[in-house]
Amino acid sequence: MNRMFKTIVVLLVVMLFASVLSGCKKTAEKPTGPSGKVEVSSWWTAGGEAEGLNALIKIYESKYPDVEFINATVAGGAGTNAKAVFKTRMLGGDPPDAFQVHAGHELIDTWVVPGGYVQPLTDLYKSEGWTNSMPKGVLDIVSYKGDYWSVPVNIHRSNVLWYNKTVFTKYGITPPSNFDQFFDVCDKLKAKGIIPFVMGTKEGWEAGHVFESVLLGKLGANDYDGLWTGEVKWSDPRVTDALETFVKIASYLNTDHSALTWDEAGQYLLKDKGAMMIMGDWTNGWFMSVGFEDYGWAPSPNTEGIFLTLSDSFALPIGCKDQENAVNWLKVLGSKEGQHDFNKAKGSIPARTDVDISDYNDYLKSAAKDWQKDAIAPSVVHGAAASEGWATEYKDIMNLFVSKLDVSYAQKALITAAEKYLK
Ligand code: GAL
Repeated sequence: MNRMFKTIVVLLVVMLFASVLSGCKKTAEKPTGPSGKVEVSSWWTAGGEAEGLNALIKIYESKYPDVEFINATVAGGAGTNAKAVFKTRMLGGDPPDAFQVHAGHELIDTWVVPGGYVQPLTDLYKSEGWTNSMPKGVLDIVSYKGDYWSVPVNIHRSNVLWYNKTVFTKYGITPPSNFDQFFDVCDKLKAKGIIPFVMGTKEGWEAGHVFESVLLGKLGANDYDGLWTGEVKWSDPRVTDALETFVKIASYLNTDHSALTWDEAGQYLLKDKGAMMIMGDWTNGWFMSVGFEDYGWAPSPNTEGIFLTLSDSFALPIGCKDQENAVNWLKVLGSKEGQHDFNKAKGSIPARTDVDISDYNDYLKSAAKDWQKDAIAPSVVHGAAASEGWATEYKDIMNLFVSKLDVSYAQKALITAAEKYLK
């Protein structure tokens, strides 16, 4: 009897303990902050881009540990494939919670002006103090009719000539600053069996990327800009000159360019087989991600003092399923910490002016200085200069041009496209 009583008491005590413990566990597991999920769409899968995105996700997950982060990336440089996927989802009523979009015409013409796709973020800008921490030039390209429509995470530069330092040093070459010098360098390198200029044109946007720098070099910041506003005609002889210059550049190219993406083409530089490449400064992020340090940079020929620019941003779709979590994502994007960690890996500079970049690499420090003092011109391939329709036609014309190299056909097509979109 006595023993049975003792057993019952022991059992009761054990049960009591177990229930107290499970109670404690439940309390500990109960989320105190936001929970659920957030789905963020972007095209950042290449080296440097992916690290930058991961830095943002890391901050988000540490602030909101109970929210499941769904990283909905669609691979393809410059958003080649991602933009089509966003569009299908947006138009089909199944938007992600936040999506990547270039600031400028791509954001405003595609998603804001038609109405009904993205939410204004003006209250968030005010409560987060972004109207004071971002410069006017950046605020302007995410604004429409007095509201802000996306959160810019960076400033990228499009007109950068990257070069392999070992190759340049070996052959006593200094970075060319105009087209004559550039072609002299190409001849010297070709004679040594080095591919002077590398390109990957597999995704269809890269020729247009290089050509916007050539146009800028031939027209200067104002008149290049005029091509997109209608003040300068595409029939201008300087456009012909730019196309002819591109044909000459193409004679120094790697022959397999149509089979390679921009970063695959960059492998020629990594292996000391290719010398130069014009590409945006995500290349700086990519070099860092693959541990390549033997590179130098200069503005693309004839563009010293001009910063051909673009900015990545994120917008908040109307009808997103996880509004609170998405707004918190935007807060991380616009925060000092978010912009610091993201851009350090991505190869761009922060859109905010108050981020300490003393631990950034030398390229980024030089880009930050240039951004302050240079003339600014908008990139067309990366959404800043023209509507998506026009930018897409421009890219397609240039992609055909890199294989056919027919100057008069390309110029006529560029003239026709401008007439269509400037109406
Ligand atoms: C640009 C984008 C950059 C970089 C690049 C290559 O359009 O703004 O952030 O991702 O494409 O993918």
